[in-house]
Amino acid sequence: MQRPMIIHGGTPLRGELRVNPAKNAALPILVGSLLTSEPITLEEVPRLRDIEVLLELLAHLGTRYAWEGRTLHLHTPEIKTAKAPYELVSKMRASFIVLGALLAREGEGEVSMPGGCAFGPRPVDLHIKALRDLGFAVEEENGTFSASRNGWPEGEVVFDRPTVGGTEQVMLAAALGPTEVTIVNAALEPEIVDFANFLQMLGVHIEGAGTAKMTIRGAETLGGGEYKIIPDRIEAGTYLLAAAATRGEILLEGANPEHMDALLSKLRESGHTVVTGTDWVRLKSTSEPQPLNVDAREYPGFPTDLQPPVSAYLATVPGVSLLRDLVYPDRFTHVGELARLGAELHLKERVLAIHGRRLSGARVKAFDIRGGGAMVIAALAADGETIIEGMQHVSRGYEDLENRLRSLGANVFSEPVPLQQAAD
Ligand code: UD1
Repeated sequence: MQRPMIIHGGTPLRGELRVNPAKNAALPILVGSLLTSEPITLEEVPRLRDIEVLLELLAHLGTRYAWEGRTLHLHTPEIKTAKAPYELVSKMRASFIVLGALLAREGEGEVSMPGGCAFGPRPVDLHIKALRDLGFAVEEENGTFSASRNGWPEGEVVFDRPTVGGTEQVMLAAALGPTEVTIVNAALEPEIVDFANFLQMLGVHIEGAGTAKMTIRGAETLGGGEYKIIPDRIEAGTYLLAAAATRGEILLEGANPEHMDALLSKLRESGHTVVTGTDWVRLKSTSEPQPLNVDAREYPGFPTDLQPPVSAYLATVPGVSLLRDLVYPDRFTHVGELARLGAELHLKERVLAIHGRRLSGARVKAFDIRGGGAMVIAALAADGETIIEGMQHVSRGYEDLENRLRSLGANVFSEPVPLQQAAD
């Protein structure tokens, strides 16, 4: 259990930050390290709870790893077991894709139903259908999937809808062998392109990553190497929205603005000045921002992971904003908590109407990573004190949040641990 965060809000964020590497690019890359018996070095890996959770699972499967500052060394000379147990998989949905890696390297794998953030149904049916379409035998019993291959995966997978995890699952499953697999309606996210670049470094032949049709030609064996992960567009977006919500000014260095078109365009539409260079973004807030209509969609649309943060921002903007999430239509667990800070929000037929105003502090809860990001943004903008519980969810995705906010002038601290607890 992590201590609640206390924020005395109402002051504009000002300053500079270096964007961290992307959690959602790091996770599949870590899983991809299972494909090879050669050592891999990843530079600048974010020190996040989700990464630690996945490393625990990889260690169980046979990976030896060592941190050297933020550099991570991974080596899996052999897979010790092809079974990923419930205790390790249930903590995070992203771990489900170890199935694809185990199938490629060992020809079989057993993985429990995944856990993860609690915002509406997040099935794995598309993963399973795709693996079956490639010729793998997949059985489900008591919440555990067992899969194996007879021949090598071959042919075409046509996804009903783009799925990030499903696309990664197929890329992993098809990475080894003499055959070729094509994904139609593949996810287009920058994290998929980064993953493809990593797999290519290992020796997998991939064409069309970042387009709707991707072809993966397996290799006989894969090598190792050193790789640097792309910047986190969701973390960057959260800080931009926090600066906008507090009417501040921020310079993000080490960002990739090309990955952030949808957000940057919405921030400009709202009236803020946004200037970009090849690897930086600067936002200077307007004091009279305009409300927005936002539909979260697959990349290159507005990211669903920034939908809770943007609703927190819009809760500070006078007027009526309308918001929908077309990827996770029920991703609105943060709405009740935002209302505690004085925002007026109405959710009807999966459309969220936000009547923004000046917020005031209250005691609130974070239920998941990005919903927590939303609460932090709202708290920074709200007058007076906000206490945010459930920070363990937030630290899954935001590295060193407290210090980073403090460096931008925010008045943030953790609730002191009660004496009794501190003595234990
Ligand atoms: C990834 C991201 C997550 C982000 C999401 C959408 C990681 C670790 N997580 O999650 O932060 O919010 O993309 O951008 O990268 N679906 C099915 N059946 C399936 C798989 C997905 O119906 O088998 C649905 C989902 O419920 C959702 C949509 O497809 O409505 C997209 O989900 P998907 O892209 O697979 O999300 P994740 O890979 O889990």
